[in-house]
Amino acid sequence: MSATELQLTPNGRLRHFLDIEGLSRELLTEILDTAESFTSVTDRSIKKVPILRGKTVANLFFEASTRTRSTFELAAQRLSADILSLDINTSATVKGESLLDTLRNLEAMQIDMFVIRHRDSGSAHFFAQHVGPGVSVLNAGDGQHAHPTQAMLDMFTIRRYKQDFTRLRVAIVGDILHSRVARSQIHALNILLTGEVRVIAPPTLLPKQAESLGVRVFHDLDEGLEDVDVVIMLRLQKERMTGALLPSESEYYRLYGLTAERLKRARPDAIVMHPGPANRGIEIESSVMDGPQSVILSQVTYGIAVRMAVMSMIAQPQEEA
Ligand code: CP
Repeated sequence: MSATELQLTPNGRLRHFLDIEGLSRELLTEILDTAESFTSVTDRSIKKVPILRGKTVANLFFEASTRTRSTFELAAQRLSADILSLDINTSATVKGESLLDTLRNLEAMQIDMFVIRHRDSGSAHFFAQHVGPGVSVLNAGDGQHAHPTQAMLDMFTIRRYKQDFTRLRVAIVGDILHSRVARSQIHALNILLTGEVRVIAPPTLLPKQAESLGVRVFHDLDEGLEDVDVVIMLRLQKERMTGALLPSESEYYRLYGLTAERLKRARPDAIVMHPGPANRGIEIESSVMDGPQSVILSQVTYGIAVRMAVMSMIAQPQEEA
């Protein structure tokens, strides 16, 4: 069963959230609009609504995370869920328990939603295929495949600062090949009818036939940044690289690092984004990361409202079933 079939109910509502590919513009816009309504909750002194009261959310991070794990946890708390954050390093996984057995045991504790990050592409899909009825899975990043809530918080950030996607030029710069974030962003930007989506990278860090993803490919950073409204920088995913794809980090920075000087090629009101974690002095100059055009910390803040939106939309059809 495809991710699209698996993640939607027969009436087109979200049952799981596994991948952006195959979702409709209406559904993505609904996520953004719902997140907008939750920003007021996150700004109040009592930051709670009872949407997930009585539900239990399990956070399963088999890979390191700061932003995604923390903001999923805060989102679930603000929706009044009970949270189980399994420490994988001290769990039975280290004794060799399989993913499926871990799932079966946690399901026996009446978990309602699983948030899963795993190094293997397809792991969230695998979980979703095996959970019982009424149980949902949210993909918090699977291998090189997808990171759908990251893409949605990035779309939320772009819409907040730039409003109309159809008039925008968006450039994604860096290690596109190994990036689950880039894949999900490209799908989301195209579904939301973005004027032009560019990818800027050396040929060794691009997937084969990158144009087939619906992007314009540039190998020269200065050329690719010309007149863009949004610059999204990506980390070099060294942990996923096999073989020598780059001459050296300093050479990469010389050719693809976003400096204040280079940023002048973009529109004067362009925003700079990065999903994090960022490596200062490798893909981005510190002064740009902390500068007036950077919205990197806003992305983190909006991650809470966007994850609240997705969880609340998933809870709806389960309630109605
Ligand atoms: N953007 C992102 O996924 O960051 P973390 O690895 O810190 O969760």
